Amino acid sequence: MTTLLSIRNVEKHFGRVRAVNGVSLDIRENEFFALLGSSGSGKTTLLRMLAGFETLSAGQILLNGRDISNVAPNHRPVNLMFQSYALFPHMSVAQNIAYGLEMEKLPRAEIRARVDEILSTIQLSALAARKPEQLSGGQRQRVALARALVKRPQLLLLDEPLGALDKKLRSEMQLELKRIQHQFGITFVIVTHDQEEALVMADRIAILQHGELVQCAPPREVYEHPATRFAAEFIGVMNFIPVQRDGAKLTAADGSAIHAAIPEGLGADIVAAVRPERLRLDAENCDNRLSGRILATAYHGLDLQVHVAIPAMAKPMVCRVTADAAEARDFKADDILTLGWNSADTRLFAA
Ligand SMILES: Nc1ncnc2c1ncn2[C@@H]1O[C@H](COP(=O)(O)OP(=O)(O)OP(=O)(O)O)[C@@H](O)[C@H]1O
Ligand SMILES: [Mg+2]
Repeated sequence: MTTLLSIRNVEKHFGRVRAVNGVSLDIRENEFFALLGSSGSGKTTLLRMLAGFETLSAGQILLNGRDISNVAPNHRPVNLMFQSYALFPHMSVAQNIAYGLEMEKLPRAEIRARVDEILSTIQLSALAARKPEQLSGGQRQRVALARALVKRPQLLLLDEPLGALDKKLRSEMQLELKRIQHQFGITFVIVTHDQEEALVMADRIAILQHGELVQCAPPREVYEHPATRFAAEFIGVMNFIPVQRDGAKLTAADGSAIHAAIPEGLGADIVAAVRPERLRLDAENCDNRLSGRILATAYHGLDLQVHVAIPAMAKPMVCRVTADAAEARDFKADDILTLGWNSADTRLFAA
């Protein structure tokens, strides 16, 4: 696959704040790439540098192999959809979308053809004459997206594009965005602080922490093999069990032996990590086991979460039980439950 965008050792300092601190990333042609990180981790700053709205303190940004670090925003084949997008209130949907093309002084017939095409793609042809105030939140979102797409950028940057939408609409738009990206063959770099959204949409995810890159990998890899304890905690739910290491032997605080592949470079103080859905009720078939008292259960429709107080752990163990298994068995508070899991499902990090 061809690299479209190379981000090389990029830094951005605001006075003493290192908003972006030595980030290097290659983003491929036609990729749906997600930048994920908590508030203040440097996501917007990095996006603004890609768009040309922010100068670099150090490093380089290459597009198709050409250094664009000093190229003005309007001379980059890049479009940024802002965190808070604003449609022109006095213009119709079609006029809003056409605006950027009119600025480029394209022929009238071409503008009309391109606007019609994009309106049908985002399924808003019937609403072309409406004003933004006459649209729902999701429809407005689609117009803002159309306005960015109609200019046919090579690279579309989207800063929290679904942030203003409710949960249901959000998941519909996630699929919609994927479909549109695929249809147009445009590279998308999307910023989100919603880890589930990144898992659903992206081909690859980059996790940022304090302006630094923690991990860059496809969703499954980020979820199953988080690079650091931070990444493990940031994406999804993770149970952490403090363990002591003596050579190849790992022991939990209650004396239980823990089995897992030990990566190189780990010291004596370690945390073992296991996902809730990897915990099993047939503990006798697993090489790792811990017992505790049931604290509470939480019904989620698709599954049941059982919270278990394990003496060897600081926080309750969260176990995900499928709806079938939950029907077959009663989980009552104060009952003793033994949970098992396999060494292959265990990740180890420095404590
Ligand atoms: N113009 C600026 N002047 C000074 N500091 C700034 C400026 N812009 C951003 N920062 C700081 O840089 C850091 C990164 O900010 P940025 O907006 O990139 O975070 P973010 O990851 O997009 O967060 P959020 O999820 O809240 O949007 C923050 O500490 C922020 O306060
Ligand atoms: Mg931001």
